[in-house]
Amino acid sequence: PKKAVEGPLVGAVVQTTNSSRFSVFNSKTAELLTHYQVELTQEFPKEGWVEQDPKEILQSVYECIEKTCEKLDELHIDISNIKAIGVSNQRETAIVWDKLTGEPLYNALVWLDLRTQATVENLSKKIPGSNNFVKSKTGLPLSTYFSAVKLRWMLDNVRKVQKAVEDGRALFGTIDSWLIWSLTGGVNGGVHCTDVSNASRTMLFNIHSLEWDKDLCDFFEIPTDILPKVCSSSEIYGHMKAGSLEGVPISGCLGDQSAALIGQMCFQEGQAKNTYDTGCFLLCNTGRKCVFSEHGLLTTVAYKLGRDKPVIYALEGSVAIAGAVVRWLKDNLGILETPEEIEILAKEVGTSYGCYFIPAFSGLYAPYWEPSARGIICGLTQFTNKCHIAFAALEAICFQTREILDAMNRDCGVPFSHLQVDGKMTNNRILMQLQADILHIPIVKPNITETVALGVAMAAGAAKEVDVWSLEPDNLTAIVMEQFEPQIKVTESEVRYATWKRAVMKSMGWVT
Ligand code: G3P
Repeated sequence: PKKAVEGPLVGAVVQTTNSSRFSVFNSKTAELLTHYQVELTQEFPKEGWVEQDPKEILQSVYECIEKTCEKLDELHIDISNIKAIGVSNQRETAIVWDKLTGEPLYNALVWLDLRTQATVENLSKKIPGSNNFVKSKTGLPLSTYFSAVKLRWMLDNVRKVQKAVEDGRALFGTIDSWLIWSLTGGVNGGVHCTDVSNASRTMLFNIHSLEWDKDLCDFFEIPTDILPKVCSSSEIYGHMKAGSLEGVPISGCLGDQSAALIGQMCFQEGQAKNTYDTGCFLLCNTGRKCVFSEHGLLTTVAYKLGRDKPVIYALEGSVAIAGAVVRWLKDNLGILETPEEIEILAKEVGTSYGCYFIPAFSGLYAPYWEPSARGIICGLTQFTNKCHIAFAALEAICFQTREILDAMNRDCGVPFSHLQVDGKMTNNRILMQLQADILHIPIVKPNITETVALGVAMAAGAAKEVDVWSLEPDNLTAIVMEQFEPQIKVTESEVRYATWKRAVMKSMGWVT
């Protein structure tokens, strides 16, 4: 017999650089009922190149959905209670596919990929003087990070892409577009769309008019007919075309960092969160105001929760490498068996013993935007061992967060009194304590780490035509938080931070 559930359910696809996951929430209690996750391959075909297979990504999402449905069945929960699905994704990663065959025309170029460095340099020369029209229209600095340059590279270098564009068969999209098009039918009527938060990371989207920008498309020489339709983050885009959830509407779409902002209930201007995953992303809700940074932060669209709802902006500090440094220690150096083991090693020594690790594997993002930087480990002595390096890697994540928080404090004028955090790495208690010590403010961590999934489930359930999740302040579930207080003297954290800064300078200009 099926168990009665308290309220309608909402499913959330969370597609990140490392994994795909499907989670199911009760829309009345925000309780996570069950989930299933599949780890993903990343390919590094050349130094600085990072690719993923779009079909593996899609397949993993289908697998997660089906396995989650099986788990619900085991829990005696009827899957017909699932009334909506949201899609949240790693942002900026670019895919071009053939709309007649459904075949990707090249691997996905992942946001971390550095192959477009020369393209970026050439484009920079085309921007007259200090009149940076790209930044004023998009809120973004010209960088390898964003989708437009990745698409430009594919148009310049991949014959299959060029041919499909000539033949009018090519479609471009970030991961959300690829997934929604495929899940809603693909070659059999799939819907080619994206939402404003994802569009704002392409560098082709005008964050003021909320449209693809003709001047930007001309500047990057991008054909506009391959771009998806831009929608709000909460409306029905289409319905699942196959599998156990066939017919269920897909009604939420958000870049993962926007979804985390919602999942952390940061709906008010001035509220912020920092998510620790592959990278580290600190977003501060700036409400209806498009605030431009003087200190190396991005201006981005946070969300637009309905066609007739206002657009909400955010200031963002993006750090490319956070959790990815742990994966590197495990996969490339082999000093960890599992990512979780880093906590055990770091705890064993409780100090880096003067060792500093700058994980500038993809150059440095905020606040430096320095593509010439590369990773360094310095301050080594004969005494240094793998535990000290593990500790330095965790400290690096915290110092990078300190840099973006400092920039945010300067831009906002009012220093943060605490920092709300989330993401899988926040289960690492040493990391959280170090973060409190290095920022010298309390770190506040919700008891759920699934904030991305929760945020996009809320957006999907709140869509007007679905209406199973109320986002009225009174109806929002209060999140239970745990707090980490600073335990070292300010002077000590300042000395360590100053040494970190010296090490950062040494990592710059490595590639000439
Ligand atoms: O901007 C990149 C970001 O969205 C990647 O997310 O989850 O892979 O760290 P994640």
